[in-house]
Amino acid sequence: MNRQTRNTVIAGNWKMNLTPSKAKAVIEELKPLVAGKDNCTTILCVPFVDIATAVEAAKGSNIKIGAQNVHFEEKGAFTGEIAADMLLEIGAEYVIIGHSERRQYFGETDKTVNQRVLAALKAGLKVILCVGEVLEEREQDITAEIVSMQTKIALLNVDEEMMKNIIIAYEPVWAIGTGKVATAEQADEVCGIIRNVLSAKYGNTVAEATTIQYGGSMNAANSAELLSKVNVDGGLIGGASLKAADFAVIVGNAQ
Ligand code: PGA
Repeated sequence: MNRQTRNTVIAGNWKMNLTPSKAKAVIEELKPLVAGKDNCTTILCVPFVDIATAVEAAKGSNIKIGAQNVHFEEKGAFTGEIAADMLLEIGAEYVIIGHSERRQYFGETDKTVNQRVLAALKAGLKVILCVGEVLEEREQDITAEIVSMQTKIALLNVDEEMMKNIIIAYEPVWAIGTGKVATAEQADEVCGIIRNVLSAKYGNTVAEATTIQYGGSMNAANSAELLSKVNVDGGLIGGASLKAADFAVIVGNAQ
């Protein structure tokens, strides 16, 4: 298997943006723009309260809806948290886990990322697992070690079969929301390093079949070059996913 046969996935990460009514408007605008663009999977990961509206608005289109986090317990006394079965019941199919903003601002650790991954997969959600180094780590030339370690810990007790429901997003933290995009070569290199980690753990077949995205200031203008790389199987897009026209260009570039 190779890039041509792997599933390309373009996912928007809306973060804490757009109320339900605005979410509906963006999806209505996006639907015709991505209609027929079926050579990639198109996903929008929206705020929890937007999910039901987004699922309804996306009906009859090729847009799939996901969440941006999930708790690792099935239920119980966890005020303010959301469980995997709640997401599934309102129609979310995907969930982002381990985004750097969760790691940076909300105490997310490699261990809790792993717990969330296991809980989400067990419930039947598909996971977009984020890994990536901070600027200091890149400058210290330990990007490969950091990203490999994050990937290995996140995938503890995830077996070969479960890997079918995992997408990995390589997101260098210094490139997120900064306008400072990784070069296509840097993105390709680190996505390749992640693929090697998968190959060592699961063998080549799984490594070659797993979608590995790049994320961090990907936009309409730079997406074609990033997506042309053999190890870059898609994108996780923040800012540029909030505008239907821009996001549609990226989906178009993934065809
Ligand atoms: P950005 O965000 O595209 O705005 O840099 C990417 C992400 O955080 O997933």
